[in-house]
Amino acid sequence: MNAPNSRLPLRCWAEIDLAALERNLRLIRASLPAHIRYVAVVKADAYGHGLHQTVARLMHSGADLFAVATLAEATAVRELGPGWPVLLLSPLLPEEDHYLADYDLAATVSTADEVQRFDAVGRAAGRPVAVHLKIDTGMGRLGVWHEQAPALYAQIAASPHLRLAGVFTHFASPDDDSAFTEEQRRRFLAALARCEGIKLSELFVHADNSSGLETMPGASPFNAVRVGLLQFGILPHPNSLLAQVHTEPVLSFRTRVGITKTLPRGTTVSYGRTHTLTRDTVIAVLCAGYGDGIPRSVSNRAQVLIAGQRCPVLGRVTMDQTIVDVTGVPGVKCGDEVVLVGRQDGAEISVSEFSRWADTIPWETLCSVSKRVPRLYRTALGV
Ligand SMILES: Cc1ncc(COP(=O)(O)O)c(C=O)c1O
Repeated sequence: MNAPNSRLPLRCWAEIDLAALERNLRLIRASLPAHIRYVAVVKADAYGHGLHQTVARLMHSGADLFAVATLAEATAVRELGPGWPVLLLSPLLPEEDHYLADYDLAATVSTADEVQRFDAVGRAAGRPVAVHLKIDTGMGRLGVWHEQAPALYAQIAASPHLRLAGVFTHFASPDDDSAFTEEQRRRFLAALARCEGIKLSELFVHADNSSGLETMPGASPFNAVRVGLLQFGILPHPNSLLAQVHTEPVLSFRTRVGITKTLPRGTTVSYGRTHTLTRDTVIAVLCAGYGDGIPRSVSNRAQVLIAGQRCPVLGRVTMDQTIVDVTGVPGVKCGDEVVLVGRQDGAEISVSEFSRWADTIPWETLCSVSKRVPRLYRTALGV
């Protein structure tokens, strides 16, 4: 396991199993038809897993393209691997445009204004800028509205300093509305059918993210998938057909016990006095709070693992400490390891379970593990 920058003892940390990430990518690939290319979505610091380490491992494991949100992320990926296509999923600000040429990045195009701006960048650089045309089929966010997509495509095709590298759309409810997902696919394919002269086989044609994958049609022009959550070993929703793809969690989130003490029945615990002890209770004060990424919304709801046993959170999570009930776990002491998300002695708390306590989704939980939390990387390939 790699040491973090600091040599100080760990109080709260995330362990990232890069070998599991690699196995996940291979499993997902194996579950898809061989011609489907793998777009690794690594925005938001690779969903909190650490951009550099994650991307380096995914390059080694055979990702075909990296999708990011910001220019900073895009340039970081470019510096790691000159050969890989990098797609910016978010719009660029005008003063960011020239980086497309400087760093050989592909831009998402939704508007005629972007076509003109990126064409000007290609002209100034003396080589075409790569773009992916995004088509809004019902997400109502980025992309040209599907009915207007053929006109925007024609503008791109007529721009000498642009190179169309891909076309894509994004599903609004792939996890719980298959009828609307199908409608979005239909709109996308209908729009492409009206793009005169488009050569889909030469482009990345992509729509499916971790949820959409399960409704992906067999024979169709789709030839790439954009995978974020699933590569980190988390199913997008509990009834996912992808449960058959046995990916494993890549990240675990851990802290340690600061102090233990016994408090008498009737004592209230933490800010706001939202929990009153119903018996004499042994509490453990943990070395992590919302400053580390344990959201306040899990107050009085979450559980943690200590010695493989579930211990309930008592009262409100505070910035640097969280209080749990360890009455049922004899011998807990200062320094003991605590699992917030992950496995310990045969027990497990998944990101999904933790997210339900927080009334949020796994994507947000992963992105919320704060900068204060060092990431430790396991690198062995394993079996
Ligand atoms: C445009 C786009 N494509 C793909 C993804 C990846 O989605 P998932 O993490 O569900 O695989 C995202 C994630 O937010 C996204 O915004």
